[in-house]
Amino acid sequence: MSTDHLKIKIISHPVPERLLDESKNPKPHIHSIERYKELYQESIANPTEFWGKHANEFLHWDKPFENVLSGGFEHGDVFWFKGGKLNASYNCVDRHAIKDPNKVAIIYEANEPGQHRSITYGQLFRDVCRFANVLKSHGLKKGDTVAIYMPMVPEAVVAFLACTRLGVIHSVVFAGFSSEALRNRIRDADSRFVITADEGRRGDKTIHIKKIVDAALKECPNVKRVFVFRRTGSEVPFDSSRDLWWHEEIEKQRPYCPPEIMDSEDPLFLLYTSGSTGKPKGILHTVAGYLLGTAVTFKYVFDYHEGDVYGCMADIGWITGHSYIVYGPLINGATTVLFESTPIYPTPSRYWETVEKHKITQFYTAPTAIRLLRKYGREYVDGRDLSSLRVIGSVGEPIQPEAWDWYNEVVGRNECAVIDTYWQTETGSIIVTPFPGATVTKPGSATLPSFGIDLAILDPITGKELEETEVEGVLAIRQPWPSMARTIYNDHGLYLKTYFQHYKNYYFTGDSVGRDADGYYWIRGRVDDVINVSGHRLSTAEIEAALIIHPSVAEAAVIGIHDDITGQSVHAFATLKQLQESVDVKELSLQVSKGIGSFASPRKIYIVKDLPKTRSGKIMRRILRKIVSGESDQLGDLSTLSDPSSIPILIETVKNS
Ligand code: WT7
Repeated sequence: MSTDHLKIKIISHPVPERLLDESKNPKPHIHSIERYKELYQESIANPTEFWGKHANEFLHWDKPFENVLSGGFEHGDVFWFKGGKLNASYNCVDRHAIKDPNKVAIIYEANEPGQHRSITYGQLFRDVCRFANVLKSHGLKKGDTVAIYMPMVPEAVVAFLACTRLGVIHSVVFAGFSSEALRNRIRDADSRFVITADEGRRGDKTIHIKKIVDAALKECPNVKRVFVFRRTGSEVPFDSSRDLWWHEEIEKQRPYCPPEIMDSEDPLFLLYTSGSTGKPKGILHTVAGYLLGTAVTFKYVFDYHEGDVYGCMADIGWITGHSYIVYGPLINGATTVLFESTPIYPTPSRYWETVEKHKITQFYTAPTAIRLLRKYGREYVDGRDLSSLRVIGSVGEPIQPEAWDWYNEVVGRNECAVIDTYWQTETGSIIVTPFPGATVTKPGSATLPSFGIDLAILDPITGKELEETEVEGVLAIRQPWPSMARTIYNDHGLYLKTYFQHYKNYYFTGDSVGRDADGYYWIRGRVDDVINVSGHRLSTAEIEAALIIHPSVAEAAVIGIHDDITGQSVHAFATLKQLQESVDVKELSLQVSKGIGSFASPRKIYIVKDLPKTRSGKIMRRILRKIVSGESDQLGDLSTLSDPSSIPILIETVKNS
């Protein structure tokens, strides 16, 4: 494969001097590239020793583990820290509450500016215990699953931790998903309880959370109880035979609940994510490995030091929120910011006001937010005191050099480490990233592997490992790492097929990648039918499935098209059933909002006569992408099409819509 496009001049950025000045800042944990290399080598050559040591340093064990790693990729029977016993909520809360109950655990920056409150570890401990006792009093026990559908309020974190205190598996559903999407996730995980709120507030919008839950539960007969946290206090429907108010329930419970002692490999949580099939997959993470992976990367990748105030702007409904708002920071006893609002509410200065107000030291967001704020202009950043910042991070999709430069100069004032962190729901924690005190960065590259991550680039067709330095291929991993997903809930076969059978003896990420002469990794994007809109992972098959439910639609094809702000946007093609002359495209769009959520709704829908197909009937999305991107003159080889004469009509239809 050609690597010519790698040859464009990229300016490298050394570690900012300010970070290495010990009179001004704490000495970075990984303070030189040599130190990084030394630790990395150790983690790859001797993973057992490396992770065994870290497991004892970062986690409290009720019973020590006997063995660090067993099993492998072939059977998907990886297990870490065999025989070890521990509890996640004890590790996240109790030990810090015992040491320093007054230390702030969570700074809740509510939607309305000026409304913020701090929750100490002591208070978090009592809240978690109380709510765990509530769950227990209603019969929840180890191994049950609970759906959490909540806005960005501290009680959501309390709900996570109360579940893990009892060994209850939480399945968090992002509160932007529709009632149908919520219903499917509740049913798939067989959740018997739902934890939710009356309403949510985001920017100037109200999200009718309880109503959405009620609609979902019409088809979830197994759900016996719904706990409702009062966020806005508005009047909401309430079924007193099923629903319970959070505030009334916790009043009844004492603020101590003994933690359930869990096995290292017991499930911690489920989180649904999209893949190439029409059905979301319940990714399962286990207690010890996940906690260790998030804890170690949190400390080293964000260079966390005692006294720092760390702020991740993601939503707790996605893996970023799980790993880097909740678990990673809390295992380390850090102060973590919970941001309920949007980057532009009430003005595009909101992030920077928040940084200034709470003196945030590490700030973590997504390229889509950076691009949006860059568009509004630097006047919204300038004038804010951002001098507390040391590390500014990005996650979710490749960050373009222009956005990287803006982030570095305007937000970081060339004095912060910019860390482009690459990872996935399935990896549990960051796997390719710079280290603030060590790595020379290049805008657009996630740089080098994190500890214990043994990367390989494979030829996508032959599966052969490409051993030279400068190559392009697909990204795979050679060895297990602690925070990798252990299975897909109720479908281990699909787990093996998706991640381990494309390329034998490797974990397959689904992303294509390039490696430059310095060994730096450049993530290019998905090679499967997954598209990335504002850092949200969407499956084309899932959107197509939602469209096809419409009575007029015969077939649908969905593609991702480049967008300057959201990265990609959804474009959909549909053919209509016989005798059907036209359809209101708004109805089709609604179909997607109903089936998944409005964030997945197509930007554009084209009603066409035919879809381009191979002779074996496979839709050629590549052709649709070219046509929509205005590259109809570069359609390439059309000889495999069953009906090449349909193409000019297709081009015309797209042009006129
Ligand atoms: C997919 C995973 C993990 C947190 C958020 C997304 C893309 C993620 C980067 C990055 C280039 C990235 C990949 C990956 N991705 N971070 N820094 N550079 N691409 O989690 O929803 O599981 O999506 O997001 O394509 O496979 P997710």
